[in-house]
Amino acid sequence: MQVKRFGVSLEEDILDDLDKMVIKHSFPNRSQAIRHLIKSTLVNDKVDENKIVAGAIVIVYDHHKRELNNKLMHIQHDYHDLILSTQHVHIDHDLCLETIAIKGKAKKLLELADKIVSTKGIHHGKLVMTDI
Ligand code: NI
Repeated sequence: MQVKRFGVSLEEDILDDLDKMVIKHSFPNRSQAIRHLIKSTLVNDKVDENKIVAGAIVIVYDHHKRELNNKLMHIQHDYHDLILSTQHVHIDHDLCLETIAIKGKAKKLLELADKIVSTKGIHHGKLVMTDI
């Protein structure tokens, strides 16, 4: 694949953060770090929506939040055909970390992830997908 050069303008503090990232993750140079950032951001956008993919939804939430466990359970049962396993870890007195392994049409995985991540009370949620 042909490599092309292009100019990027960045604020100094963002460039500092990039350089720190290059060192921390032992990237050989800025280009490699930027390549990694672009690829990891594009992976969910680029995927063919009708393709079968696998991935995981990771969520962190407070189990005291009213009705949250019930809502999450309902959503997961609605999409049971996509869910391979669910791992629930109690990370402290309040918070739970849940990893939901999934496989199916990318379109359906995105739909499921959107429903789970946007549920009120979820502190943090992220979908990771990959072609298989
Ligand atoms: Ni828990």
